[in-house]
Amino acid sequence: MQIDILTLFPQMFQSPFSTGLFQRAIDRKLVRVDIHDIRDCTHDKHRTVDDYPYGGGAGMVLKPEPIFEAVKALESGLSPKQEERRVPIILLTPQGRLFSQQIALELSKHSHLVLICGHYEGIDERVREHLVTDEISIGDYVLSGGELAAMVVVDAVVRLLPGVLGSEASPLDDSHTTGLLEYPQYTRPQAYRDWGVPEVLLSGNHAQIAEWRRQQAISRTLERRPELLDKANLCLPEKQLVERLKQPQ
Ligand code: 6GU
Repeated sequence: MQIDILTLFPQMFQSPFSTGLFQRAIDRKLVRVDIHDIRDCTHDKHRTVDDYPYGGGAGMVLKPEPIFEAVKALESGLSPKQEERRVPIILLTPQGRLFSQQIALELSKHSHLVLICGHYEGIDERVREHLVTDEISIGDYVLSGGELAAMVVVDAVVRLLPGVLGSEASPLDDSHTTGLLEYPQYTRPQAYRDWGVPEVLLSGNHAQIAEWRRQQAISRTLERRPELLDKANLCLPEKQLVERLKQPQ
């Protein structure tokens, strides 16, 4: 997968993509991430990327020309075949659709993504109308720019690409893919301070362990994120378990 990120702050992207799982994915050529400075697409002495809003008001607005030009430069590097497949051009903005595991999965199917990091009070509306094909927000709070949001999206998408996770871990088992939060995990020592490990995990009985984990995942989800249960794929006994857990103790 090719990912191009357009930003006013390219230096912000240095460390997140040069560590751990990411670096490994890049080294193995499973993904390529190119960071582009929007300022490189300006032509005046001051490298101006923003201007006052028409109609007045606080803050500055990102100008359309450098952004159109930056995307155009990427497209001229595409083969006609890639262009036909319609590369998503995604604006990171608090006004976008709310990012989710489902959207990450959807984006992971594309061979190329372009992400534009919004800034200041906003971006000229003509960028939205005539260039951008999707708008994404990562939550109901305001960040000072789209960069951190772009990193969140890229992280969630890249770990879904075939071969990025080790062979054992499967993204299909993730919280939010199963529709349930994850069950509690323990490792050695078996006794730490006064605290032990649930007996069943030491039993070696894999069927029992699997059942315990599933029940833990369900009760944890009910406790913390009950709205997720509506979409989870529960069998009848599990639905009955939920009903029992809902009864006051
Ligand atoms: Cl994508 N951008 C900004 N600036 N703030 C956000 C956001 C994005 N998602 C949530 N808050």
